[in-house]
Amino acid sequence: MKTFHTIAELRTALKSERLQDKRIAFVPTMGNLHDGHMELVRRARQAGDVVVASIFVNPMQFSANEDLERYPRTLAEDQALLAANTCDYLFAPSALEMYPDGKRSQTQIEVTGLSDILCGASRPGHFVGVATVVTKLFNIVMPDCAIFGNKDYQQLKVIEDMARDLSSNVEIIGVDIARAESGLAMSSRNGYLSPEELAIAPTIYQTLQWAKQQIEAGNSSYETICEQAQQKLEAAGFSRDYFEIRAQHNLLTPSEKETQLVILAAAYLGKARLIDNITVDLS
Ligand code: PAF
Repeated sequence: MKTFHTIAELRTALKSERLQDKRIAFVPTMGNLHDGHMELVRRARQAGDVVVASIFVNPMQFSANEDLERYPRTLAEDQALLAANTCDYLFAPSALEMYPDGKRSQTQIEVTGLSDILCGASRPGHFVGVATVVTKLFNIVMPDCAIFGNKDYQQLKVIEDMARDLSSNVEIIGVDIARAESGLAMSSRNGYLSPEELAIAPTIYQTLQWAKQQIEAGNSSYETICEQAQQKLEAAGFSRDYFEIRAQHNLLTPSEKETQLVILAAAYLGKARLIDNITVDLS
């Protein structure tokens, strides 16, 4: 696997692949890679002839009080893992390479509506940072398809809408959530958890499953289900962010007739903010 730190070097390498009519599959990440990321790389291997991953801890998607500084940076380990999983190219730019004039004077991409709810309400500006960096990465890599995890359900929706609204040629592919045996969704932020917190963390998935069972059993009092779920999480040791039942297609409060639902949860445990989700099909 070849690693490039500059846009120019990566473009040159990918140009010769493109001249050979190779289909490029792209996996954007922020590094500190785990099995969940490797699922994305394996999916990329099926979807394209050439697999490109990126590692960039994007400052634009963190607000001042968040974990940008302490976000784990493990480039050497990540390179070894990617190479072992047959990734062809790694793009690992510096912040200066991506934002030469600083992130404040950067043109921004905003997917209106979707960006301000749920995680966007708790993390103002987060999805503008995500949409902007993903647009830049798409322009740099010019992939045929790009692979994202379903754990960041709202992020995937933001990127799908952005690609559609900007007439992008990149096919967006979502991959199922990778879970530990305990049910905990794999995440780089799980590394912030102490052993005691790690034992509590799977409660978030168990609570999502409980809520799903309630809905499937015919309980349509969604507000009550969500409030009870929040209380379960608090009893386990989490602090509240949100627990919501929404329509899959637009992430808004569903009408009574809606059959394609998604239950989304975000909660704080110690130093970590954990997110997870589960879909419900009532058709
Ligand atoms: O999901 C992530 O790791 C990041 O939000 C992404 C898509 C790589 C953009 O920085």
